[in-house]
Amino acid sequence: MDLQLTDKAVLVTGASSGVGLAVTRMLLAEGARVIAVARDPGRLDTAMAALEDRDRIHAVTADVTDRVAVESAVASGAEHFGALDAVVCNAGRSLMARIGDTSDEQIREELDLKVFGAWNVIRAARPHLAASPVGAVVNTNAILAKQPEGRLAITSAARAALLNLSRTLGEELAPEGIRVNSVNLGLIDTGQWRRRFETYRSEGGDLDYDAWSAEIAADRGISLGRFGNADEVAFAIVSLLSPRASYITGAHVDVGGGVTRQP
Ligand SMILES: NC(=O)c1ccc[n+]([C@@H]2O[C@H](COP(=O)([O-])OP(=O)(O)OC[C@H]3O[C@@H](n4cnc5c(N)ncnc54)[C@H](OP(=O)(O)O)[C@@H]3O)[C@@H](O)[C@H]2O)c1
Repeated sequence: MDLQLTDKAVLVTGASSGVGLAVTRMLLAEGARVIAVARDPGRLDTAMAALEDRDRIHAVTADVTDRVAVESAVASGAEHFGALDAVVCNAGRSLMARIGDTSDEQIREELDLKVFGAWNVIRAARPHLAASPVGAVVNTNAILAKQPEGRLAITSAARAALLNLSRTLGEELAPEGIRVNSVNLGLIDTGQWRRRFETYRSEGGDLDYDAWSAEIAADRGISLGRFGNADEVAFAIVSLLSPRASYITGAHVDVGGGVTRQP
């Protein structure tokens, strides 16, 4: 099926790794043009250099919590391609800590990343998306937004804030022809989990990655018994970006291998 994304210009934050990189690769395969955003220029360049269709990539470094830097990245992308049809607010990380062990500064940083990390991008892109006949936003979120975990206390709360805001934006931006949807991740095998595995090994853990991740999947009650991968998430994101999803807004899709136990 043609997803009707050929030549569409899509800005992806967190494009240098994991889900953002998989989304970038899938969009390029669909014929789209990608404005790839991340903070570390070296990592971004290395990731983009490994992709085909370099002429359809415009790489820009920006921290999504920095409003001015985001405005500049959006303007640069829209000017480079002459349009901006969609954005994927994906940049982020999680903070593994119980609320009693979380400093006020960490709480502010986490809310900043999850809320402004998306809102800065959507606000700057809004006039371009409104000018596009197929304006769309997809926010990468987490099942934690609906199913909080004590060991990820402030990340769960910040995720809930973003999910709530996404639904409001779905309503508010609909008259401008902009759709806003969310993809909620369960446990996905990306840089985040590889780093945690390295920590586990450095602390003396002796399981290999597959056994370690299967143990975590069982502990979290994942029906499919394994972590997901970035391509499995990218498929959901790219599907929601597609103009074929023209009647879907204010919605969310869970990509969690059946971990969802609550609505
Ligand atoms: N993997 C999971 O199990 C899981 C579960 C639930 C939710 N999520 C969420 O899904 C999204 C993608 O995660 P992932 O697993 O693909 O992560 P990842 O492999 O660690 O990649 C994160 C990407 O975001 C960029 N980034 C981080 N902070 C940024 C900032 N402030 N401004 C701009 N770019 C930033 C990173 O590049 P730089 O560091 O160079 O900026 C990198 O490109 C994140 O929002 C994450 O929290 C992941």
